[in-house]
Amino acid sequence: MARRLTAFTPSGELHLGNYFGAIEPLVRQQIPGETLVFVSDLHALTLPHDPAEVRARTTSFAALLLACGVDPRRSLFAVQSQVPEHAELHYLLECVAGFGEARRMIQFKEKSARGQQVRVSLLTYPILMAADILLYDTEEVPVGEDQRQHVELARDIALRFNAAYRPVFTVPRAVNPPVAARIMDLITPTAKMSKSVAAAGSLRLLDPPEVLRRKVMRATTDGSTEVSYDPEQRPGVANLLTILSACTGTEPARLAETFGGYGDLKRTVADAVVALVEPIRRRYDELIDEDLGDLLTAGAAAARELARPKVIAAREAIGLLPAYAETPGIRPIA
Ligand code: ADP
Ligand code: TRP
Repeated sequence: MARRLTAFTPSGELHLGNYFGAIEPLVRQQIPGETLVFVSDLHALTLPHDPAEVRARTTSFAALLLACGVDPRRSLFAVQSQVPEHAELHYLLECVAGFGEARRMIQFKEKSARGQQVRVSLLTYPILMAADILLYDTEEVPVGEDQRQHVELARDIALRFNAAYRPVFTVPRAVNPPVAARIMDLITPTAKMSKSVAAAGSLRLLDPPEVLRRKVMRATTDGSTEVSYDPEQRPGVANLLTILSACTGTEPARLAETFGGYGDLKRTVADAVVALVEPIRRRYDELIDEDLGDLLTAGAAAARELARPKVIAAREAIGLLPAYAETPGIRPIA
């Protein structure tokens, strides 16, 4: 069994794309010592943000991930910023990453094109993500298609560091789900469903059943009436079939044969989505009232135990003296 790690940035609202692209693949197989899940709050600071909102969302994302089935007895579950080794390794990795390769990341290009005040952290975000991954000898990173390029960068950085200094890092690879690696927006089915974009096209995990149904019934289809699976020519219908396929396990092209028309298809998709999401939302409602502080502190402590030796190895390899707290004879400040 390979060590697997993924993380979720507490900005916007988690949706069905996040669920099928990364949450479900991770939750399906959780093995103690091998499965790690983080709420990547440091990544939420890369765009203009409200401090109180980031803090509230970090707790809310933690509760929602637990509601989706992340099991802290089988998975290491922690908040990124509570493990300072992430930020420490981030800097060391910045010293082996190129400005050119960071600038070429598609997400950076897209997001930096939108705002005038671009933060340096938006550029270096994939290098922090590489630190998240490389700290734990991660072999597999379950992510949606849109994050594949960032995992490739983590690979490149690991290979370069190992070759230049010492073989400190395990070289990771992205794993995408077979279907649903890229769920599309319901209104604009040529763009991916996203946490931050218009709510009407996004099936959010905390949407009540009637909202989910309404969104599915209003999804963009096309002028035809027959149901067939053709992502190029008929992206809206193909997306609905993909969502249903992810819910049921039957291939989209086979499902297409079973529907007489769009109304029929949409009602079945709405039923399947509500059946999946409603229990998650109910569990979330219970969990959000609980104090998750102790659980997250325990997760962070367990993460630090794994991460610290890796940072020490990276510091030594790259040419630093031992860290203050690790210097024999010097007592760290409590
Ligand atoms: P968003 O792009 O919606 O803001 P993130 O980038 O935080 O979401 O993604 C969290 C995880 O969900 C990542 O692994 C990402 O690849 C995956 N993901 C995001 N959107 C989709 C989608 N539409 N289909 C499949 N997976 C997705
Ligand atoms: N960058 C990812 C996103 O915004 C979240 C993330 C942070 C991540 N660190 C990670 C995903 C490490 C996988 C592995 O979606």
